[in-house]
Amino acid sequence: MYGLASFAALLGGLSLCSAAPTEQNITSDTYFYGDSPPVYPSPDGAGTGSWAAAYVKAKSFVAQLTDEEKINFTAGYTASNGCSGNIPAVSRLGFPGLCVSDAGNGLRGTDFVNGWPSGIHVGASWNKTLAHQRALYMGQEFHRKGVNLLLGPVVGPLGRVVEGGRNWEGFANDPYLSGALVYETVQGVQEAGVGVSVKHYIGNEQETNRNPETENGVTVASVSSNIDDKTIHELYLWPFQDAVLAGSVSVMCSYNRVNNSYSCQNSKTLNGLLKTELGFQGYVVTDWDAQHAGIAGANAGLDMVMPSTTTWGSNLTTAIANGSMEASRLDDMVTRIVASWYQLNQDTDFPSPGIGMPVDVYSEHEIVIGTSADEKDALLQSAIEGHVLVKNQGSVLPLQSPRLVSVFGYDAKAPESLDLAPVSLSVAPPTQNNTLWVGGGSGANNPAYVIAPLDAIQQQAYEDNTAVLWDVTSFDPDVDPASHACLVFINSYASEGSDRTGLVDSDSDTLVTNVASKCNNTIVVIHNAGIRLVYNWIDHENVTAVIFAHLPGQDTGKALVDLLYGRANPSGRLPYTVAKQASDYGAVLHPVQPVAPYGLFPQDNFTEGVYIDYRAFDKEDITPQFEFGFGLSYTTFDYSSLNIQRTSVEATQYPPAAVIQEGGNPRLWDVLVNVTAQVENAGSVDGAEVAQLYVGIPNGPIRQLRGFDKVNILAGETVTVTFALTRRDLSTWSVEAQEWELQQGEYKVYVGRSSRDLPLTGSLTL
Ligand code: NOJ
Repeated sequence: MYGLASFAALLGGLSLCSAAPTEQNITSDTYFYGDSPPVYPSPDGAGTGSWAAAYVKAKSFVAQLTDEEKINFTAGYTASNGCSGNIPAVSRLGFPGLCVSDAGNGLRGTDFVNGWPSGIHVGASWNKTLAHQRALYMGQEFHRKGVNLLLGPVVGPLGRVVEGGRNWEGFANDPYLSGALVYETVQGVQEAGVGVSVKHYIGNEQETNRNPETENGVTVASVSSNIDDKTIHELYLWPFQDAVLAGSVSVMCSYNRVNNSYSCQNSKTLNGLLKTELGFQGYVVTDWDAQHAGIAGANAGLDMVMPSTTTWGSNLTTAIANGSMEASRLDDMVTRIVASWYQLNQDTDFPSPGIGMPVDVYSEHEIVIGTSADEKDALLQSAIEGHVLVKNQGSVLPLQSPRLVSVFGYDAKAPESLDLAPVSLSVAPPTQNNTLWVGGGSGANNPAYVIAPLDAIQQQAYEDNTAVLWDVTSFDPDVDPASHACLVFINSYASEGSDRTGLVDSDSDTLVTNVASKCNNTIVVIHNAGIRLVYNWIDHENVTAVIFAHLPGQDTGKALVDLLYGRANPSGRLPYTVAKQASDYGAVLHPVQPVAPYGLFPQDNFTEGVYIDYRAFDKEDITPQFEFGFGLSYTTFDYSSLNIQRTSVEATQYPPAAVIQEGGNPRLWDVLVNVTAQVENAGSVDGAEVAQLYVGIPNGPIRQLRGFDKVNILAGETVTVTFALTRRDLSTWSVEAQEWELQQGEYKVYVGRSSRDLPLTGSLTL
């Protein structure tokens, strides 16, 4: 049985199996759900659009390589640096090699770099301009350190599994928001001359069983994300499409299987969706040790293996000689990699690869400063804007010259040491005993410093000539009744390598209720690496304010104090739904486990289709605690004057056939409808509003986010917000036509403050 299974895996494609699968006849290519026919051959990169010049140079470069030199491009090797992976040099042709390193929120494993806010924090900011700036500055740091490729950003997981251990690395539980932010991030990083590897492609929604595990000679395969064609297009592929449209030079295939074929040898997702439908011109690199086949992977569209390979190497030339692989496939693999290097101008303007990446930062090494003073504003502003204020009873915030502030909770304080050592992937505890500014695993960046909340609050007291008391160890602290406010800091930790064990923890909740029982102005700050529920105390009369502070990076305390004291006005909005109770999330609350009859080949059937997060809450009519898109400000915003205007672009039912460009059919980006509305800052302080547009597409979910516009509005002023709706925004994926299709009937259009606070409604027909 195992022989059969691994033979099937080597084929790299999928076949249909009509017999009901049992533990006896199951093979790793057994078909359960969805339709993933094999797609061969692997399409050659064509040098379309902006890639033309890079491909011309790459082709002439590759023509000069020996077979052995070509093979060296296709797999990593161990170099004497601390990069996550390396490709060797071809010195005789002036190619210095490549250094690739984590992660999407700052460089890991070295010194003199910044710890930027994580994906979830950028998602909560809903700020495209800021996402772009953050990315540009991060890219510049990687550039100074000699890192050619940033292993990120993350758009998979999308957050389907609520307890998923890596949801915090991605931006949002919505493909549109995630797609808009990944687009800016790809462009920002690559503007700095550093490539991105958008990850993890695709269906990488849980950590449990992400890798095969062998015990007593029996192997349990990676979990298979079984996703139907419509759902993959409308949800999971969507943000990857935006990343390809933005020019991403690389995509990282994931650990899991998709429809029972490993992601890094899945011809449907690599050759089919990515390279044919989306017209991807860059290269596919494996996640680390995610290669589970030999030639089958290459034929399925894999271009580079990391951190090294045991099955490729000279076997590639043997495969070409015996006809199991085309020579043109090897040339295409190398061309895609070298074209990416030219595309980023790394041939003319790049430091020595890995120069700022010591093997061990605690040994003597060359000092390369990655940071720069001009990043400061973007670092702080990105940290500020990912905070989401969800309760502010009696406008207790911002604090008004508080005489005495009392600070409680383990999350207020700095860690005892700031260690730049490599990450560990041990099972993540529910909380971390210091302030949480980033999650764990390969996305745990190495900040230049960390300003903890307690430090920043003390600095504020120094400046104001006021007082601070604190107890950051007790879970039932004494409270001085003279306290103007009691700030309670708790966190919710998550890390690569394991999923979370719940969405609350009783120690933290007891701390909150203990303080609230003694202090009638208890303000709770939660640093949360994922969704954190608040039902244990949200309605407590003494819990006056609550902030989801997410993962702000190294300026965490400074950003928070700017918000608490009113120098900044909260403008974050939830990029996910906070339920009243965990069971409201339904079957996608927990990761799936390997259970009979598929114990050896764990199956995760995405039967809910596109109905995750707010789409599911709307469909089931479940009232959330705090809905997707929700967040308070110190001012209020009024909406008026909805205007929905068709453009002159022809809205034929099917877009005319077109040459596929990067991102797919270019007609998908035709703007069919423009929507505008007026937003007034009706309060007395300046603030930023995230105006959100949702569309009810006929035959689709009740509402889906299809536009947002974050605008600064001075007190008393009114601005116009605009939303451009593209053909893709207004279409659904047709499995029969294998194309995006506009729908007949009435489209509902909603504009407002959140997914459930939508004062303006209108409609359109196409
Ligand atoms: C495994 C992680 O899944 C991936 O995100 C990371 O880039 C690689 N390790 C390299 O560290």
